[in-house]
Amino acid sequence: MNILFLDQSGQLGGAELSLADVAMPYRETCLVGLLADGPFRHLLEQQHIPVQVLATQPIPVRKDSHFLHSLGSFGSLVPLVARVTKIARNYDIIYANTQKALVVGAIASYLSRIPLVYHLRDILSTEHFSPTNCRLAITLANHFASLVITNSRATQAAFIKAGGCSEITEVVYNGFKPERYWTQESNINAIKQQLGLNGQFVVGHFSRLSPWKGQHILLEALAHCPHDVAAIFVGDALFGEQDYVEQLHKQVAELGLEQRVQFLGFRSDVVPLMAACDLIVHTSIAPEPFGRVIVEAMLCDRPVIATATGGVLELVEPGKTGWLVPPGNALEVANVITICRQNWESTRAIANQAQLQACERFNLATTNQQIAQLLKLYCKTD
Ligand code: UDP
Ligand code: GLC
Repeated sequence: MNILFLDQSGQLGGAELSLADVAMPYRETCLVGLLADGPFRHLLEQQHIPVQVLATQPIPVRKDSHFLHSLGSFGSLVPLVARVTKIARNYDIIYANTQKALVVGAIASYLSRIPLVYHLRDILSTEHFSPTNCRLAITLANHFASLVITNSRATQAAFIKAGGCSEITEVVYNGFKPERYWTQESNINAIKQQLGLNGQFVVGHFSRLSPWKGQHILLEALAHCPHDVAAIFVGDALFGEQDYVEQLHKQVAELGLEQRVQFLGFRSDVVPLMAACDLIVHTSIAPEPFGRVIVEAMLCDRPVIATATGGVLELVEPGKTGWLVPPGNALEVANVITICRQNWESTRAIANQAQLQACERFNLATTNQQIAQLLKLYCKTD
């Protein structure tokens, strides 16, 4: 099966890291078309997955854009759509991995008659998108997609609630290779040494810096934790959230947390960094569609505290495989960090249980098998 994957971003967000894993089995015959250049292209090249940057200029459909703004963006779409349509004729399926890719992919699918699959990785609600962009995605998916794969039941439910056609949706969880998440003790010690973390109880936050990812909630929580609790923040502002970065640094100064907080920026060595933490905290204040970092923490055998929103409820069984806290509640985060630390034996047992479950429930081999079956079922090719 020859697949033309489309993704709007050149950055290494969760949608892109997941797509690299989905595209891998097809690398002999597929193409990943990007609507922007960046480190994602390098990652695909390293993995020998064919990739091409298709847009000569960025597509200005913004998450919060209004109706006229969205319409205005169509002018710059024309040459891109023409290019994608021409390329698509050499493939069996157009596979859109993001919203802007859906816009381009839907028109190209209509013009080329090549079936369209939409891998929906966002919660289509007004907490994340303007009403116009939600409507646009729903309309295009309903009219042009043969199949909408969602990364969680929560993402599927939001799609249907917003008017999406339920019959074409299928839930497929992101998959991971468990062996990628093993770290040697010597690596952990080296990282702790480099970062000066020895003797501290280390809480890790692994997400791009963005207001809805709620890094500020962990900072606030930290102020209510004992002084030997330190935090590392791994991740960068991938989509231009510089104001938020400044706000976070200001908050650190205001709360007097300079000695207990480190911002490490984007890192490609997430696994040993997670392993160097005692606890991983996820603090999204808007519904998280899936939350790769939560499963990755489990696979690293690290206890997870996460917010009870969106797809997270499908990943964490409170008290069995982790802890859930209400979104935006810093005091509760501080409280649960303290409880976990005080009951360390049961905390470790929960992390072990979570690791076992994550290996079974979120295995990449299963994910890719499910996707292959769905593509066969929904997109009949000769
Ligand atoms: N990640 C990374 N380096 C960083 C921060 C995050 O490689 O510095 C990875 C992280 O391991 C995870 C992904 O980025 O695989 C983020 O995916 P998630 O689903 O948690 O959130 P998203 O950013 O897609 O909303
Ligand atoms: C999106 C979502 C994230 C999800 C990822 C991979 O980036 O924000 O929750 O884990 O896609 O599906």
